[in-house]
Amino acid sequence: MKIKGQAAIVTGGGSGLGAATARHLAALGARVAILDFDAARGDAVAADIGGAAFKVDVSDAAAVDAAIEQAADQFGTVARIAVNCAGVGLAAKVVNRDGAPTFDVFDKTIKVNLYGTYNVMSHAARRMLTLDPLDDGERGVVINTASVAYEDGQMGQAAYAASKGAIAAMSLPAARDFARSGIG
Ligand SMILES: NC(=O)c1ccc[n+]([C@@H]2O[C@H](COP(=O)([O-])OP(=O)(O)OC[C@H]3O[C@@H](n4cnc5c(N)ncnc54)[C@H](O)[C@@H]3O)[C@@H](O)[C@H]2O)c1
Repeated sequence: MKIKGQAAIVTGGGSGLGAATARHLAALGARVAILDFDAARGDAVAADIGGAAFKVDVSDAAAVDAAIEQAADQFGTVARIAVNCAGVGLAAKVVNRDGAPTFDVFDKTIKVNLYGTYNVMSHAARRMLTLDPLDDGERGVVINTASVAYEDGQMGQAAYAASKGAIAAMSLPAARDFARSGIG
């Protein structure tokens, strides 16, 4: 896809991989909406690249939907590009030093990494489906971020590896869901 002139959504765009992705897309001529829980960082990157920032917890599907809608209103068009970079890498053994299972870490990690990715993918793609295809038949693109930890997780990474394995696993069937509609 030609990036120039497209609207894009980048989650976790306030830091690290997401910030670098937002900057790169903007340098290629995209209008970029950053969805990040950290408003200060999201705002700072958006200000640098002439984009927009929305303070959103990606695990909140309704908030994700609202932010994507606001971004479309602000840019005057639906984003054809959605990049999922928001994530947490909380480390905890399955049972902690006190002998207690670390359900809280597992719950948060799955909610942010897996549900967050699913929320953004689904709410971004449902809008891409309403767009006319480009000349080459493409309607949009969704990029999800997994990790090598999904097949080689280290001690303390059971929750993180589970979340990333699930992201990797769902991305192929999701791509098959959308393939005939020109969303890759
Ligand atoms: N850094 C690595 O070595 C590495 C390796 C493999 C995969 N990854 C993955 O790449 C992605 C980005 O990693 P990074 O190192 O750039 O991380 P980072 O911590 O630098 O940035 C993550 C961003 O996500 C945001 N975020 C966290 N929880 C959120 C939530 N609930 N809602 C919205 N935003 C939220 C944070 O505010 C932050 O801006 C993550 O999914 C991570 O798992 C990173």
